[in-house]
Amino acid sequence: MAEDSPLDRLPADSAQLFSLSGQTALVTGGSKGLGEAMAHALAGAGAEVVITSRHLEEATTVAADISARTSRRVVAFEADAANREQADASVAFAIEQFGHVDILVNNAGINMRGPIVDMDDETWDTVLGINLSGPFYYCRAAGRHMLPRGYGRVINLGSTLSSISIPDRTPYASTKGGILQLTRTLALEWAGTGVTANCICPGPFATPINKPLLDNPETAQAMQDKVPLGRWGDPSELATSVLYFASPASSFTTGAALIVDGGYTSQ
Ligand SMILES: NC(=O)c1ccc[n+]([C@@H]2O[C@H](COP(=O)([O-])OP(=O)(O)OC[C@H]3O[C@@H](n4cnc5c(N)ncnc54)[C@H](OP(=O)(O)O)[C@@H]3O)[C@@H](O)[C@H]2O)c1
Repeated sequence: MAEDSPLDRLPADSAQLFSLSGQTALVTGGSKGLGEAMAHALAGAGAEVVITSRHLEEATTVAADISARTSRRVVAFEADAANREQADASVAFAIEQFGHVDILVNNAGINMRGPIVDMDDETWDTVLGINLSGPFYYCRAAGRHMLPRGYGRVINLGSTLSSISIPDRTPYASTKGGILQLTRTLALEWAGTGVTANCICPGPFATPINKPLLDNPETAQAMQDKVPLGRWGDPSELATSVLYFASPASSFTTGAALIVDGGYTSQ
């Protein structure tokens, strides 16, 4: 008899490893930027996708566009990520639409920049609500659904500022450090259940969140100069990273942070 080989557990066609056919993904903040690109990548791998945003009309147009490009069902749901009831309702909507949620991408996020001494409480509360409380609500709602099913892939959007920092980013960097710790804690809490939790940590990508920097040629260039690859990332270059964490192929990866930053944090 032939000896047992790990090769027997790998399909001849490696693309099969990353197939999300029959799976449902919920992507918060999927109406633009990195979320839109990741939603497209997930649908392109075969998943049916729900994207959320605070603006239903815009999200519906994006969902229809992704659906037309990938031939998968992609639907929009209006929800403010900072609102607990709306987070619960998003998960319930995805289950109602597709029967189950296999993949949660906590992507919705904002950045409000400025020196701490000039910052009001509202700014701090707003950023914490969307960037950290929101992912907590979504992880809890998805966990309640995924754990009894014995399978799930939770992917949280951190940042290079999950581990390093720069001035004038107190609420943003605090939430991005926090979301990495949320991810690690869930990885341990859910170890062995079939539900994994991982974090993607992007560097500077040219998306609407960075409009204040991109609109000013000086700050746009200054950021670019700090990146060893010498440019801002394109959202399409981040979208690919979600496929590993989202697929069954990442079964032995949990609590991990994947840095996609053009070398920024290697310096
Ligand atoms: N781009 C980068 O350089 C970079 C770097 C590191 C980390 N990240 C992280 O990556 C994630 C996506 O960033 P991005 O660059 O794609 O940002 P973006 O272009 O500004 O897009 C943000 C998305 O989140 C949604 N959103 C914002 N607040 C929301 C809320 N309260 N409830 C629901 N949806 C909300 C937006 O839609 P609506 O406004 O219509 O609600 C939009 O779809 C964020 O978590 C960000 O911190 C980005």
